[in-house]
Formats: sequence, structure tokens, C-alpha cells
Amino acid sequence: VDLSAANTLRLPCQVEHYAAPTSLTSLQAALHHAHARQWPITLLGGGSNVLLPPTLMGMALRPALCHWWLERQNESVVAFVGAGVNWHSLVMALAARGLWGTENLALIPGDCGAAPVQNIGAYGVELSDVLEGVQVVELATGEVRWLSAQACQFGYRDSIFKRALAGRVVITQLALRLSECPRPVLGYGDLASRVTASPTPLAVAQAVCAIRREKLPDPAVLANAGSFFKNPVVDESQAQRLLQTYPQMPHFPQAQHQTKLAAGWLIDQCGLKGYRDGAFGVHERQALVLVHFGGGDRPGLLRFAESVANAVYDRFAVTLEPEPRVV
Ligand code: EPU
Repeated sequence: VDLSAANTLRLPCQVEHYAAPTSLTSLQAALHHAHARQWPITLLGGGSNVLLPPTLMGMALRPALCHWWLERQNESVVAFVGAGVNWHSLVMALAARGLWGTENLALIPGDCGAAPVQNIGAYGVELSDVLEGVQVVELATGEVRWLSAQACQFGYRDSIFKRALAGRVVITQLALRLSECPRPVLGYGDLASRVTASPTPLAVAQAVCAIRREKLPDPAVLANAGSFFKNPVVDESQAQRLLQTYPQMPHFPQAQHQTKLAAGWLIDQCGLKGYRDGAFGVHERQALVLVHFGGGDRPGLLRFAESVANAVYDRFAVTLEPEPRVV
């Protein structure tokens, strides 16, 4: 099976077997089928945050449970969402119903089931701010259980699904706690200036879409996986030293004397915005996004990314790490 259209970077990838089960029972059957044949299993979502190799052994599994519903619980509303639901469609549907919580995360590509893995975040909100819990199925046993948000050990672009539970569970459902009371989060960038004083969640979602469309390339037009690097977190002391030379450098103080820097700004300062080498390039409007013009593969992309990271290291002594999952 050819997965080149199943990843937004359009990296060529061939896998022996592919399953997209639409229910818990068919998912368990697919796991059973793979175990009986000793196929290794690779989990996929919408393919918008993965770096796929040219060939994959065994079976690629994309949970395609596509139902979602709302339940009222006291003051709030909880959305139960199947892993296969498209994240952006869910955000727009919730915002259109006047429910607050996910509107800042509009236009993030991919499936709902993948959202907790890297704890998707944008414009001052992370999934972990609204997530109540996730339903998972153990790959080894097919057993179904729920994990609380706390058990997911969320951090910046991080969760237990990248660590202790990597390759051990498949996320099948999310429970998201939403609010009918207005609670706009407008502090990031110029978001506040793009909406009225008391906006609806739909207006906020639409403003976020407009900002993202200005900067981020549409993967349907130009292959990419969003931010290619995580924003690096450095010691406050290193940030202070850099600020002496670059007083205009964007920086965001974190807990425990750490400071988050903007990888896009660092790459931009190296003069690399719009730089192209063969099949790959640095996007011309957002330096944190690497784009694939066609004809490349993962080894080529990783070489290109390394050259970008090396330029940043040589200039700032800051190490950049890839943000998408290297499968
Ligand atoms: N900047 C530049 N040049 C660039 C890019 C950025 O100078 O080419 C500067 C900007 O002017 C700004 C700062 O760097 O001062 C931060 O830029 P921006 O607001 O565009 O956000 P980001 O840090 O580059 C992060 C997330 C995005 C998310 C935005 C908005 C990561 C790795 N990326 O990007 O997430 O949409 O903030 O919240 O944390 C993704 O993860 O795929 C993604 C797109």
C-alpha cells in the first residue's frame, strides 16, 4: 500500500498492510489479525505530523472511529469524539454551537486521535486545557480503558503517548470539556485586534483560521507538516546572554528558570527563510515550516533539516529538535 498521499509531507512510503477500522470491535479484530501473523504495527492519524520512511514492515493502522456526541454534565458540556474525526471540522462544529474551549486550535490538520499524542497547541491554548480523558486500546491485548488527562502527562508538544505508552496503545476516543460561558483566550500575537470586544467562539476560530492562512502553507497545495522543529527551551541565563546581542529576540519565560525561544525567528535570522535545496525548502512566510516540492524522501528531508539546525546552532548555540514523529 502506498502511503505517500496519507502523509501531508508527501514522503514516499510503502507499507505491506493497511487497516482503517471504524469500530472498537473491528479495531480489536485488526490487532488480532496482525498479532497472529507477527506483523509490527505502525499507528497513523491524518499523517500531518509524521516523517515516514520509504518502506514500513507489517501493518499501518489508522483508527477511523468517526462518531462524536455531546453530553451535558452540570455547568459544562462534554464532547465524546472518535479518533477518526477530523480535528478542524470538530473545532468548527463546536464553535458554531457556541461552545468555548477549542476555538484557538482551528485549522490544525489531522485526526482527533492524534491530537493528544503531541498535545496540539496554538495561540495560547493546548489540547490539555480542555481534555478530560482519552479512551485507549492496548495493542498487545485489545483491552479498552480510559486515562485521565493527568495520567497523560502532558507537556509542551509532549505526552505519555510519546514516552511510556509509545507503540503500546491506540487512542480511540477523546472526552473534551467545553464551556457555554464566554472564555476567550486572545493574548497571543495580534489575535485580540482581529475580533470584537465580546466575540463568539466562531469569530475567534475564524480569526485564527485567517492568521494561519496568512502564514502557513496549505498542505494540499505545498507538502508540509506544520512546524518542523519544536520551539527550543533553554536556560534563562543563556536567553539573557542572547538578548544582549539580539535585544529584539522573541522569548517566553517558562517555569524552573527556563525560557522558550522561537525557532522560526532563529532560522529566519540565519537568512534561511525561502531557502531551497533540491526537493526541500524553508517556507517563505514562516521559517519554522519545511516544505517538500516533490521528488524527495525522508533521508533527504532529514539531511536538509540538519543543515538548517546546524546553521542555527553555529549562530546561537541552540539545538533544534524535529517536532513531527520520526516513524
Ligand atoms: N518568527 C519570525 N520569523 C519566522 C517565523 C516566526 O521572526 O519566519 C517570529 C514571529 O514574528 C514571532 C515568533 O517568531 O515573534 C513566533 O512565531 P509564530 O507566532 O508564528 O509561532 P511559532 O512559535 O513559530 C508556534 C507553534 C505553531 C502554532 C503557533 C501559534 C510550535 C513548534 N509551533 O509557532 O504550531 O500555530 O505557535 O501558536 O510550537 C505546529 O506545531 O505545527 C504549529 C504550526
